[in-house]
Amino acid sequence: MTTTMKAIKVANPGPTYVLELTEISKPAPGAGEVLIKVAAAGLNRADIAQSMGMYPPPPGAPDTLGMEASGEIVAVGSDVSKWNAGDKVCTLLGGGGYAQYCVASEHCLLPIPKGVDVVSAAALPEVHFTVWTNLIDSARLKPGDSVLIHGGSSGIGTAAIQLCAARGHLVVTTAGSAEKCAACEKLGAKRAVNYREQDFVDAVKEATGGKGADVILDMVGGDYIEKNFRAAAIWGRIVNIAFQKGMTANVNFAPMLMKRLSLMATTLRARSNAEKGVIRNALLKEVWPLIDAGKIKPVVDRIFPLAEAQAAHARMAQSEHTGKILLRL
Ligand SMILES: NC(=O)c1ccc[n+]([C@@H]2O[C@H](COP(=O)([O-])OP(=O)(O)OC[C@H]3O[C@@H](n4cnc5c(N)ncnc54)[C@H](OP(=O)(O)O)[C@@H]3O)[C@@H](O)[C@H]2O)c1
Repeated sequence: MTTTMKAIKVANPGPTYVLELTEISKPAPGAGEVLIKVAAAGLNRADIAQSMGMYPPPPGAPDTLGMEASGEIVAVGSDVSKWNAGDKVCTLLGGGGYAQYCVASEHCLLPIPKGVDVVSAAALPEVHFTVWTNLIDSARLKPGDSVLIHGGSSGIGTAAIQLCAARGHLVVTTAGSAEKCAACEKLGAKRAVNYREQDFVDAVKEATGGKGADVILDMVGGDYIEKNFRAAAIWGRIVNIAFQKGMTANVNFAPMLMKRLSLMATTLRARSNAEKGVIRNALLKEVWPLIDAGKIKPVVDRIFPLAEAQAAHARMAQSEHTGKILLRL
């Protein structure tokens, strides 16, 4: 049996980073873990930050890139009862997905939904774990709520629009071109605003009959923090998953007080496997049936061979994509 495998390593973490295909040791599953022969890995914007040396993996995670993957279980560690060699799965990872094999916690494993091929399934874990825990656990999304989703054409945005539309919510979203706006409306958004041309606050007010959005999922930050206060309904809940436009802002908090708003922010990666397992269970119950039924689909932008990870990163860095970029093994 071979003890090494091909994987992508960052040769020189920093602004001019180079992704190299190298040979590294094949990992082995520990207690509560499985070894997966990877079919595909999903790209995430955090992979770019990690490659630039700005986002180290959490303690205990491999230092190779890759926060999600799909494939076939080929070995099972001790204390794993529900999964067997031969099972096809997709999974959230602390790291190590850009490789021929990866080790995953049993708490993070999900079956491949009906009608989804094993490669496309790599587009599912990170977006659905993130969207579910932020919209449902943090923002307490309830039936009838309207939702503003920023960055609608992102991996996260395309999943959030579909989930909200499938659950009957009115969705307004922002995206950076007419084509991306059209793609978001096709996925179920009632209104997609080209943020380069129009103010989203007016559009949200218009789409919600002047009320504002009950829930806002934001990945932009900066001046959007205060604009979100203006776009929110009374008792609105705003959750930030990133601050691409800036971690600091000069904000007038008066509307937050007057409208009784909640502002939250969370990250997923550093949470414990047990905590991720709770989210996984909710996805199995509430989201996987919607994917099985074809009401939510993986939105795959482009699939690159593993050796072309650098080109895949360039496509994401330039924001040329709609949905998820994948690496095929
Ligand atoms: N906190 C967490 O646990 C967590 C988990 C997963 C992801 N995230 C974060 O969530 C974000 C999305 O992740 P991803 O992997 O889906 O990345 P992605 O596909 O690269 O998405 C980034 C998106 O941000 C949009 N954007 C940039 N500036 C904008 C603006 N001013 N207004 C509206 N949209 C704007 C881009 O839209 P245009 O191309 O149209 O400009 C693009 O669609 C990333 O920042 C990522 O780090 C956080």
